[in-house]
Amino acid sequence: MCGIIGYIGNKDSTSILIEGLKKLEYRGYDSAGICVKTKEGLKVFKKRGRIFELEKLDELKELKGMIGIAHTRWATHGEPNENNAHPHFDCSKNIAIVHNGIIENYHALKNLLEKEGHQLSSQTDSEIFAHLVEKFYEQNLEKAVIKTLKLVEGSYGLVVMHKKEEKLIVARKGSSLIIGVGEGEMFVASDSAALLEHTKKVVHLQDEEIATITKDKYIIKNIDGEFVNKKIEEIKWTVEQMEKKGFKHFMLKEIFEQPQSITDTIRGRIKDRKIKITVDFRVDSIKRIIITACGTSWHSALIGKYFIEELTQIPVEVDYASEFRYRNPVIGKDDLVIVISQSGETADTLAALRGAKEKQAKTLGIINVVGSTISREVDSGIYLHAGPEIGVASTKAFTSQVVALLIFALYIRQKKGQELDQELLRELEELPQKVKEVLKTDKEVQKIAKEFTAVKNFLYLGRGINFPVALEGALKLKEISYIHAEGYPAAEIKHGPIALIDEQMPVLFVATKNNLSAKIISNMQEVKARKGKIIALVNEDNKEIKELADYLIKVPQIINELSPVINVIPLQLLSYYIADIKGIDMDKPRNLAKSVTVE
Ligand code: AGP
Ligand code: GLU
Repeated sequence: MCGIIGYIGNKDSTSILIEGLKKLEYRGYDSAGICVKTKEGLKVFKKRGRIFELEKLDELKELKGMIGIAHTRWATHGEPNENNAHPHFDCSKNIAIVHNGIIENYHALKNLLEKEGHQLSSQTDSEIFAHLVEKFYEQNLEKAVIKTLKLVEGSYGLVVMHKKEEKLIVARKGSSLIIGVGEGEMFVASDSAALLEHTKKVVHLQDEEIATITKDKYIIKNIDGEFVNKKIEEIKWTVEQMEKKGFKHFMLKEIFEQPQSITDTIRGRIKDRKIKITVDFRVDSIKRIIITACGTSWHSALIGKYFIEELTQIPVEVDYASEFRYRNPVIGKDDLVIVISQSGETADTLAALRGAKEKQAKTLGIINVVGSTISREVDSGIYLHAGPEIGVASTKAFTSQVVALLIFALYIRQKKGQELDQELLRELEELPQKVKEVLKTDKEVQKIAKEFTAVKNFLYLGRGINFPVALEGALKLKEISYIHAEGYPAAEIKHGPIALIDEQMPVLFVATKNNLSAKIISNMQEVKARKGKIIALVNEDNKEIKELADYLIKVPQIINELSPVINVIPLQLLSYYIADIKGIDMDKPRNLAKSVTVE
């Protein structure tokens, strides 16, 4: 998920590694660390916070060696602190590793290692790699890594070094790793931004490939130990382009990352048709659930209400955290208060959580940033693992929140001994693929965006589980394009907003097929009759809608429960393109902060 850089050659590695880390800074991280093979063995230095804190360490000036690895961490397991920062050692400190990704079967492997006497010194999943390699090491580092990888489930971009070996072993599964080929020196990085300054010749590792890298050669094998031939490719991009992976803005990059971020939210949580999460309370003791959050997270809470009530019949209330904290809510020990926050630092959400705890309610956090204040104060938590979100407008965190809420609702249902809908589980597992498909609407949405850059107002309408999607579409638009936008339940327009409709008013209908389709078509007719401009989001060829709509956006079909995840994506794109055409830097829209830590 975050940054890896490795070096082997004839130069002093410390400065190459630190400079490499700086090139990866844009990815967001919470701590950084370095390991260099010196005459006295492997030396590791780590620091919580920024790379310059690490760079400032006096010891780094003395750190000399021509093989090294470095890492910027974005925590998934264990708080972001110095101890949990990478690189990690094995017990003997002969082996050091850096890892990007998540080990799904980390608990089982940890138990196995501890039974065998290994002492783990961090809370990370990643440290497991160092100890497994230690366990299997018999004078051949590559073989030990292959044996390790066979035991590990999950995702990894991994680099391993050994005090006695003049090589780096690298491996990849679901987390990018690239070898940079130099003259008498080799590099490895999670992202070519870190390599560009040194070489343009790269080899992209594929999943389950392992490379043994020495200063003048690399040998690639698959996980069965068979040789793999790969050709060297040339990087054509500039550093600036690389940092955003070729996307013009972080927001667009994050929109396009959603197949991966959703995969990471689901990872390890569905197994053998069952939900695998752990919470610290008894499900049968929960009589009522209150979900509280702000902004986009509040919108996902509204979708969570549909899931939980539908699947578990437990009543759910959703409240703005800023209201909840001041309204002296009636709650007690039979209530579960769920707080949702991407950053885990939002002041109102934190205060709502503290208020709930004071009243003895049980609490659960749905958080993206590991080790954030809210994540530390909740009784139980589900991390999103969506990776760092840098754009101020939340996109990938929203879809991961919806997925996490569905997983939680399914978990409660399972705990209550009720059957899980197998079709829903299957569609959930296939969701990242459908997200890839919906991203193909990009060009179409961009064209539609061109028509609406001069408008002053926008209405978003949806019904049922897609009403919160309408709210989220409207919020995205106002945040980054500064166009006034409102989201409404479609039927509600005749109670007021219909007065606004004329030929100047664009109305976006989330009209994907469900049991309310006929009703939404009637709402469209009401808008059409008043000359409103209709943009319809559909997932089937509906003749009536085709006739009514001025613009159509067609998305893939999916089970109704998952439709918000698919439907929100063209709305994210629409607001992105409108803002872009207006020349707004939507990564930093005016007056907004990524994390609202004040009231
Ligand atoms: C989303 O696009 C906004 N920037 C904002 O509404 C945000 O969702 C809200 O401030 C809550 O943030 P949190 O999820 O980090 O708590
Ligand atoms: N899961 C690992 C950890 O929490 C790696 C995180 C990352 O990709 O930076 O340390």
